[in-house]
Amino acid sequence: MVIIIGASRGIGKFLFEQFNSERIQVIGTYNSTISVTENLTKVDITDYKQVFDWIEKEREVLNNIVLINCAGITYNSFAHKCEPDLWRRVIEVNLIGSFNCIRAILPVMRSQKFGRIINFSSVVALKGTPGISAYAASKSALWGMTKSLVAENASLNITINNINLGYSELGMINQVPKIFLDSLIKQIPANRLCEPENIFKTVKYLIDCDYINGASIDLNGGLV
Ligand SMILES: NC(=O)c1ccc[n+]([C@@H]2O[C@H](COP(=O)([O-])OP(=O)(O)OC[C@H]3O[C@@H](n4cnc5c(N)ncnc54)[C@H](OP(=O)(O)O)[C@@H]3O)[C@@H](O)[C@H]2O)c1
Repeated sequence: MVIIIGASRGIGKFLFEQFNSERIQVIGTYNSTISVTENLTKVDITDYKQVFDWIEKEREVLNNIVLINCAGITYNSFAHKCEPDLWRRVIEVNLIGSFNCIRAILPVMRSQKFGRIINFSSVVALKGTPGISAYAASKSALWGMTKSLVAENASLNITINNINLGYSELGMINQVPKIFLDSLIKQIPANRLCEPENIFKTVKYLIDCDYINGASIDLNGGLV
């Protein structure tokens, strides 16, 4: 079964619908979206207790778990002008929130000797991009965290990998004004944004292949 954290919008919503349409059991979460179209549970992943209680509630149905950490936020500001609380919030959602979900689900995966965890990282973890230092920090931190988690769990048939996504047609890209979007696309060697289908293919590949572990896979149309 698949668990999608952050399934109310963007990429998570798309993946939720894809797994559903392939009749793969999928459950998911949202946080602040007012009207969710799917049957999702409200969980603020920055609050470990909420995550833990939700996993406990779902415990009976959890089997052959694929956890997809798709929740994320960004905050645009040059560091010298930023609001420290908003900067911190990005780390709390993107890094600590993802860890909270992993922490709550790992014991179940370990007891079942199966697990797949896929986190969404970003091209900007490596590509110096102004105005998003918190986001970049949160995304590159996933790489190091993943390496350590793999050393702890790989012997139990649990894989943990990251997708370093470039710029997708879906989701937070909507926050980029059209004028910047056009110049952004020109920088991508593929000359286009990532189609959602390519994200789904990559996710499925990471689920299928049990020997890719601790990897951070670029999905960016050649953007470096
Ligand atoms: N879109 C891109 O081009 C792109 C590129 C590189 C990496 N990524 C990464 O890919 C992932 C998905 O991005 P997206 O563009 O699809 O984002 P999005 O459309 O902005 O959706 C973000 C999701 O995260 C959830 N979320 C936010 N704060 C949360 C919290 N405190 N607790 C629980 N859930 C929370 C949101 O739920 P509510 O709306 O209900 O609050 C929503 O479902 C993110 O990790 C993002 O950083 C995206």
